[in-house]
Amino acid sequence: MSPSTLPALHALACPNCARPLDQRERRLSCEAGHSFDLAKQGYAPLLAPGSNATTGDTADQVAAREEFLGSGAYDPLLDAVAKASLTDAPGVVVEPGCGTGHYLAAAVAADPVREGVGLDTSKYALRRCAKREVPDSGPRQAAGTRGGLAAVLADAWNRMPVRDGAAAAVLNVFAPRNADEISRILHPRGMLVVLTPREDHLRELVDALDLLSVDPAKPQRTADQLGSVFEAERTDELRYSIGLGHPEVMRLVGMGPSARHLAPGALAEAVAALPETVDVTVSATVARWRPRG
Ligand SMILES: C[S@@+](CC[C@H](N)C(=O)[O-])C[C@H]1O[C@@H](n2cnc3c(N)ncnc32)[C@H](O)[C@@H]1O
Ligand SMILES: [Zn+2]
Repeated sequence: MSPSTLPALHALACPNCARPLDQRERRLSCEAGHSFDLAKQGYAPLLAPGSNATTGDTADQVAAREEFLGSGAYDPLLDAVAKASLTDAPGVVVEPGCGTGHYLAAAVAADPVREGVGLDTSKYALRRCAKREVPDSGPRQAAGTRGGLAAVLADAWNRMPVRDGAAAAVLNVFAPRNADEISRILHPRGMLVVLTPREDHLRELVDALDLLSVDPAKPQRTADQLGSVFEAERTDELRYSIGLGHPEVMRLVGMGPSARHLAPGALAEAVAALPETVDVTVSATVARWRPRG
């Protein structure tokens, strides 16, 4: 395989007609003649007709996320997601709403046979995902194989540019969840891994900074949404505390949904009034769901 071949190409599908895609130089094309040039930042623009590409995170949100996740504060969540994504099904790991590819890279690194496909509507996130190296650690290092990530511009609420049954695992981490599409792309022995925040996630900051809180009905809504196509196999609850200084608090707020609702001046003032180090609860559920039937 030449180094410029897009990883996981065999798992991708034309967004216009669902046929397989081939690559020549920097152009992807299907047998029906639809073609798509890779962006110079390395991601593949495969938006299906009728997609809404305006939903993606801003450059500031993405920069804040990259820095915050890079600090290791969510590493217990990362490890839990990577472990939960291990399956004996053939195929790739797909993450709709992959952001910078932080979780996707960890899941791919955990299994020597995997490559990854990250779908997102944020070009800022995809630029980082396209450049992300899969860590050479654990099982992959032992096997001596390199897993790559394909960063793909696609709307997770529309038809995804992924072939039927091509995913051994699908990750859903703080991101849009389209149960029917996930079911279509997942192999029958594959696994959907869903990380959802619990009611007390970041509660100290929610209280002190008036952030958007997690809806207590969310776990039930998730179960209702997924229950018709998937069955729950296992659920792990993670809860731990982290000590954050003011810059980390700014990044954590900046990467999340509250970033779009708070005036920057008001946030900086509220953060300045916090103790120098704030103990913050991280609380989330990592669930494994199998396709029914
Ligand atoms: C809260 S972030 C989570 C990113 C990543 N899963 C993580 O936890 O690091 C949600 C991501 O979903 C993306 N997104 C929002 N709407 C989307 C859509 N309709 N299709 C694909 N991605 C979308 C955003 O751009 C953002 O990168
Ligand atoms: Zn086509």
